[in-house]
Amino acid sequence: MKVLGIETSCDETSASIVEKRSGRKFGKVLSEVTISQINKHKKFGGVVPELASREHSNNIDFIVKKTLKNSNITLSKIDAFAATTGPGLLGGLLVGTNYAKALAISCNKPFISINHLQGHVLVPRMNKAIDFPFLCLLVSGGHCQILLAKDYNKFTVLGETLDDAVGEAYDKIAKILGYDYPGGPIIEKLALKSNGKHKFNLPKPLIKDKSKNLSFSGLKTAVRRIIEKGISKEQKFDLADEFQNVICECLINKVDLAINSLKNKTEIKSFILTGGVASNLFIRKKFKLLCRKKGLFFFAPEKKLCTDNATMIAWAAHEVLNNRKKSSNLSLSPKPRWRLDAL
Ligand code: KG4
Ligand code: ZN
Repeated sequence: MKVLGIETSCDETSASIVEKRSGRKFGKVLSEVTISQINKHKKFGGVVPELASREHSNNIDFIVKKTLKNSNITLSKIDAFAATTGPGLLGGLLVGTNYAKALAISCNKPFISINHLQGHVLVPRMNKAIDFPFLCLLVSGGHCQILLAKDYNKFTVLGETLDDAVGEAYDKIAKILGYDYPGGPIIEKLALKSNGKHKFNLPKPLIKDKSKNLSFSGLKTAVRRIIEKGISKEQKFDLADEFQNVICECLINKVDLAINSLKNKTEIKSFILTGGVASNLFIRKKFKLLCRKKGLFFFAPEKKLCTDNATMIAWAAHEVLNNRKKSSNLSLSPKPRWRLDAL
């Protein structure tokens, strides 16, 4: 079974063909082609929706054809076509969804609608034996959620950010410091140069709160005020380090609460860290330690599967097709605010 997946929800136009042989548990990527729009949005300090949708529509035909060529197969060998239909920027969602629907109709094969967050959460199962139910922290540029994944289509949100997503906080801090988007990898590198000499006493929002929700906007404002007063190069490294430590402490604190609150503790064996921010090695290390303490198996996808990609969409479609052979409704419209607990 071969699925062609398309991802166009934000600033990456991506197509991927994932094969899963019958009776096999895991999938194999035959080819993935991704065009990042980062350079187009850089000068605006963030993703410009109208520009993004124009870029998607310029690139989609080329990347789908290239993906087929790289995997050395023809369109007729594809068994289903999948696309991200939400959440995300409406213009981009329309481009990918309509393209996948058109391919499905013309080839008389199913069209599978995939939630972008479902893709991030399920992709580790493409090559690792991670059974449901499992616990997951999804941290990206647009989302920050602690999830209980009960099945391929059943997710409970245990806690989430009340304002900024983690990646968004990284991006904004980097921008105030004068760096380009995306800021996550830049802050991670700056923090590595810190010698911890300067302390800023940054706030740890909601850390004493008993809920599993998070908040990062107060932290972001505190960092902005410090930068606006003027800081030296060494202070900048120390600030990046303290910022990252506070983010991590808040995330760990809430995931720890979530683990302790689980009713079916013994049933849950794995913890997954996923989404663009999961490529951060410092955060990965901290969660690995937490999982060791809690007796959970820790897993985070390889870097290129953490940030947005079409492989996770094609894989999620395989998971859907394993359970339901039918096409999604061809008249469905993309949902820019589609929640994972409303599949
Ligand atoms: O999952 P993703 O590619 O797109 C969304 O669905 O939002 O995540 C992109 C986000 C950006 O905010 C970026 O700054 C952040 O992931 N990111 C990182 C790192 N690499 C990417 N944040 C922290 N550390 C990193 N190494
Ligand atoms: Zn994403």
